[in-house]
Amino acid sequence: LPLQVLEGASLLEQELEKRLGIKQVVIVKGNADQDEEVKKRLGMACASMLGGLLRDNLSIAITGGTTIAKMVEFMPRQHGNYKNLMVMPARGSVGGRAEFQANTVAVELAKKIGAQYELFTLPDNLSSSSIELIKQEPTIQKVLHKLTETDMIIFGIGSAMKMARRRNEPSEVIEKLESKKAVAEAFRHYFDTEGNIVYASQAIGVSPAIAKQIPLRLAIAGGESKASALLATRELIEGGYLIIDESVAQEIIKKL
Ligand code: G3H
Repeated sequence: LPLQVLEGASLLEQELEKRLGIKQVVIVKGNADQDEEVKKRLGMACASMLGGLLRDNLSIAITGGTTIAKMVEFMPRQHGNYKNLMVMPARGSVGGRAEFQANTVAVELAKKIGAQYELFTLPDNLSSSSIELIKQEPTIQKVLHKLTETDMIIFGIGSAMKMARRRNEPSEVIEKLESKKAVAEAFRHYFDTEGNIVYASQAIGVSPAIAKQIPLRLAIAGGESKASALLATRELIEGGYLIIDESVAQEIIKKL
């Protein structure tokens, strides 16, 4: 599959880098909303970016999602190229399709790059009282601590309502998201167009506040429907690396 890069993309990439304060933007051809192939392109572009950023002693946290799963699929095997790599899932698992969950993609990525991995084998949808209890567990404390110290986070950005349905959020949460006009979802937090968090799940793992402190941030999102989501989460992307498709890039430029 050739990595089809959009003609004239570099101008649009530079414009977005400037306007959003991003270190590097990569735009692939097409619209992921309409064409599944575009997710593969996004995955390939993200894999190649990650390949360029790998170094000895790097620790990486990674979220789930269908686009992130493509990145791992296209990551070339590079066993032994780097010493002491570590991969961790950013959040617990969510139920539903195991292949898109953070734990699964973390193990797959670790195998591809010859890293060690740490698992977070926790349901991501426990009651707040159970979460508070589990947070006290020394093994969980250890992973949480490692997550706050990680060098890199690779994460997907989703559309709020689509993600809420995928995560089977209860109807009162769906209603709240609708009334608060949530447009984005990242790290199980939902944002309105202004970037305010309008609903946050109690789950254990990397939160937007933790993510902002992580030195190397790689965000991936495609499909024009994610334009508002990307703008709502721009604080998370600022200073980082962004892999998007042509359709969402053009929508963002119109909105900026
Ligand atoms: O949190 C957002 C998701 O990671 C985005 O998932 O790549 O399947 O749209 P997706």
